[in-house]
Amino acid sequence: MRAASLLAAHACLLVARTAAALGALARELGAEDDHRLRVDALAADVTSAGARLGLVDVAIARDVNVLINAATAEANGPIADIDAKRADLVLQTNLLAPVHLTRALLPHLLHRPEARIFNIGSALGGSEWAGTAVYSASRSGLHGFTESLQRELVGANVRVQFLAPAAPDAEPEHVARAVLRSLLMGSATLARLSAMLPLWLAPT
Ligand SMILES: NC(=O)c1ccc[n+]([C@@H]2O[C@H](COP(=O)([O-])OP(=O)(O)OC[C@H]3O[C@@H](n4cnc5c(N)ncnc54)[C@H](OP(=O)(O)O)[C@@H]3O)[C@@H](O)[C@H]2O)c1
Repeated sequence: MRAASLLAAHACLLVARTAAALGALARELGAEDDHRLRVDALAADVTSAGARLGLVDVAIARDVNVLINAATAEANGPIADIDAKRADLVLQTNLLAPVHLTRALLPHLLHRPEARIFNIGSALGGSEWAGTAVYSASRSGLHGFTESLQRELVGANVRVQFLAPAAPDAEPEHVARAVLRSLLMGSATLARLSAMLPLWLAPT
């Protein structure tokens, strides 16, 4: 019933930059389960401050109670070869967008009976390989942001969770299932465990 109270009564707002793919996914998901879930799509770039403002307005109007930060950008190769714009994009997408979306939405979430902020990273943050310095910085930053926010919100109605899928074993569908399971279970301990293990391997 926790699942039902958290998810069933609420609409889902999908965000990505590519409007056509997003619209198709929203229609596909909206047609499932006898159209009981309202699925809306909003084409927006989360690295744009202006786009985030519009996105937050729509999210509040929809009375969202779960924010899932899943957008990702990558940069591979020796640090001196990484284009400055690419480095900025990785940090903006993987770290700064979740920080600013959280800042903007938290006041609303704190007024919901129950709410979640769910950040998706990557197992080990990529720091175990050379040639991933910028990506790793963004992932480690998101992990640290999440852990401190968890402590800041102890006792609040907003739970903060983190999932770090273990590439290359992680498949998109597994990641999605793990996010859903973690949302429904919702324990902070599990959230920390999931930072080290793929969630579908974690005990339930
Ligand atoms: N699947 C795996 O094996 C795996 C493994 C480890 C970690 N993860 C993490 O799990 C998360 C989800 O994985 P996934 O496989 O579903 O990733 P994905 O297929 O690459 O999906 C990422 C989504 O983010 C959107 N996006 C990217 N930049 C954006 C921006 N600036 N503004 C708005 N939307 C943006 C993309 O759509 P547009 O391009 O249209 O904007 C896309 O829909 C990611 O954070 C990923 O790093 C996944």
